[in-house]
Parts: sequence; C-alpha cells; structure tokens
Amino acid sequence: MAERKKTTIGNVLYTQDEIWKRSKEISKEISKEFEGEKVVLIGTLRGAILWMSDIMKNVTLDTEIDFIVASSYGSGTTSTGLVKITKDIETNIYGKNVIIIEDIVDTGTTLMNLVERLNDRNPKCIKVCTMLDKPSGRKVEFKADYIGFTVEDLFIVGYGLDFDQKYRDLPYISYLEG
Ligand code: IMP
Ligand code: MG
Repeated sequence: MAERKKTTIGNVLYTQDEIWKRSKEISKEISKEFEGEKVVLIGTLRGAILWMSDIMKNVTLDTEIDFIVASSYGSGTTSTGLVKITKDIETNIYGKNVIIIEDIVDTGTTLMNLVERLNDRNPKCIKVCTMLDKPSGRKVEFKADYIGFTVEDLFIVGYGLDFDQKYRDLPYISYLEG
C-alpha cells in the first residue's frame, strides 16, 4: 500500500445506524437463502470484526463463527499463490455452507485467492459478504455475493478499517483526505 502523509479524516460516509440497517437487509437475504440450513461465518481479521458482529447478530440461522487472517502479496495479475493464510480457521468446513465476511474488496486479490483456497476443502458452498466494495481498485475479476455499500476510489477508514492500524475503532465509515 502506498505511503500516505496526510491522515486527516474526511466526512462521514456511512453512520453506525446506516451500517446496522444495511446489515439487517443483507442478513435477511442470507437467512432466506439458507433457510433451514447451517452456515459457518468466517470473518477476516482484523478489518471485518465490526461488520461481522452486525451480520452475526442479524442472521437468524444456526451459525458457527470462525476467523481467518490472510495477507496478500504480489501484483494481483495471476490467480494463485498470492495469498498467505497467517491464521487459519479451526473449523472443518467440509460439506458446510461457508460465508466469508470481509471488510472491503479492493483489488479482489485477497478474496479471489481465499475463496480458491477454501474451496479446496470441499465445502458445500462459499459465499462472500463484504461491507464495502471498491470496484475502481479491481485488478482481478471478483464479485462478492453480498455487498453492503459501494464506495468511490478513496482510502477508507473506520468501522474496522485502518490506516497503519489506526481508526479501526471509529463507529462510522470515513476516508483519508489528501
Ligand atoms: P484486496 O486489494 O481486494 O486484496 O484487499 C485487501 C485488503 O486491503 C482488504 O481486505 C483491506 O483490509 C485492505 N484495504 C483495501 N482497500 C482499503 C481501504 O480503502 N482502506 C483500508 N483498507 C483497505
Ligand atoms: Mg481485510
């Protein structure tokens, strides 16, 4: 990620209340789609924790939760080996419905690779639920199944998202100015 000098926080893009409302809508969709089934929600640390907590509170299914840490490297122009799982899930997902809960899809590299890697474990299905989608940043073709909000080409902070580990605790979504 490029060096940034200015760290002024811009306007509020989405308030806590708006995010909560959107998580309810998405959770309703998920609950309908998987009615009568179990799902494993896998949150990506650390950015997705607040969105994950909203989604898990609103999904009305029989759920298990787990967490994964994946870091991407490389240019994002090829599809394999660009993601390192530095903390794996402990859940056996074989034959299960999996929903990855992510903070933001930017280049698409992390998610595309993560889905590929988890698919090797033969789950019943894998869906991706991201709080934010930044289509302008895409380097590989990737489309999340559930999208909270689509954002412009901005560096987003707050509600789990950081700049240099700061601002994850902001109870709203904003961006860095400059
Ligand atoms: P990717 O580029 O789609 O692989 O996204 C990788 C990760 O970069 C995301 O899961 C975020 O943790 C981080 N990221 C991407 N865009 C932003 C941003 O605007 N603000 C903060 N983190 C970001
Ligand atoms: Mg992330």
